[in-house]
Amino acid sequence: MKFAIFFVVSVVFICSAELIKDPKCKGSYVNGKFHKKHIIANGLNRPYQLSIYNLHHAIYFSYNVGGDDEDKFEIGYLKKDQKVPTPIPAVKNGFATTIDHHHGISYLGGSDGIYAHDFTKPDEIKHVVKQHNIWDMFYKEHLYFIVYPSQRLHKKHENSSELVEHISEKIYQFAIDGDEDIFITTADGVFQIKNGTTERIPFTGPKIFRAIEVDHQGVAHFCGQNAIYVANKDNNALEEIAHIKNIFGLTFDAEDHIIYSDPHEIVKLLPDTCK
Ligand SMILES: *[C@@H]1O[C@H](CO)[C@@H](O)[C@H](O)[C@H]1NC(C)=O
Ligand SMILES: *[C@@H]1O[C@H](CO)[C@@H](O)[C@H](O)[C@H]1NC(C)=O
Repeated sequence: MKFAIFFVVSVVFICSAELIKDPKCKGSYVNGKFHKKHIIANGLNRPYQLSIYNLHHAIYFSYNVGGDDEDKFEIGYLKKDQKVPTPIPAVKNGFATTIDHHHGISYLGGSDGIYAHDFTKPDEIKHVVKQHNIWDMFYKEHLYFIVYPSQRLHKKHENSSELVEHISEKIYQFAIDGDEDIFITTADGVFQIKNGTTERIPFTGPKIFRAIEVDHQGVAHFCGQNAIYVANKDNNALEEIAHIKNIFGLTFDAEDHIIYSDPHEIVKLLPDTCK
């Protein structure tokens, strides 16, 4: 069952961002600082795999279109101030999203490969990778994607794609941060592969993640089941920066504000005072 590991905890919690300090303040704490919740959209069904196309403030994500005990996914996007997603039905069983900000292309992955969507030409969609079932994607200079069920990393070239031989592990997530260090997640947790090396450095902390997203400063953020973490490279530990119940997806707006999803909402966290 492709999505089973993600959903183990998802049925239990329906509340969103938790009030961890002053109960009067409706919001979350990020790095100890109060942030209010700005609800971008609600009434959604398990929004996952958020990516924001900052130039046009459009958020791409996948969501469930099946019943409560069924995993049937579709990708759509929300423009600024739009509350109901515009679906992109061309992507069969659409699940994964990532964006090449430099060229303004959104990559959308599903059970028959990867499609490229140019936001400024919404009716144009190109099937750019075929014959792979896409689990997750990451963009930095190249498009990287993890294939289901092998869980192996691949890299897209202009007219072809190749298996990334040097990452021989079965992985769930992959990211390259601003120091060009690689992070992978496996069944054993998070490992760092420093730029130009092959050693796997294990990081202490949680072992199950729903996403790794790199902010505009180049800092990798790890989305666990109930918190967001960053990697402390001095002591090889993941450190919790925000406690948010049942977080599904994560991305950052142009000002690096956190945008996350829970089982029903997409929320932006904005620094504020709590009186
Ligand atoms: C990719 O295919 C196009 C069209 O066939 C061709 O013009 C281009 O040279 C190819 N690129 C590479 C890197 O092979
Ligand atoms: C990564 O390593 C390459 C060569 O090994 C080096 O040229 C590059 O500057 C490194 N990147 C960073 C961000 O340190």
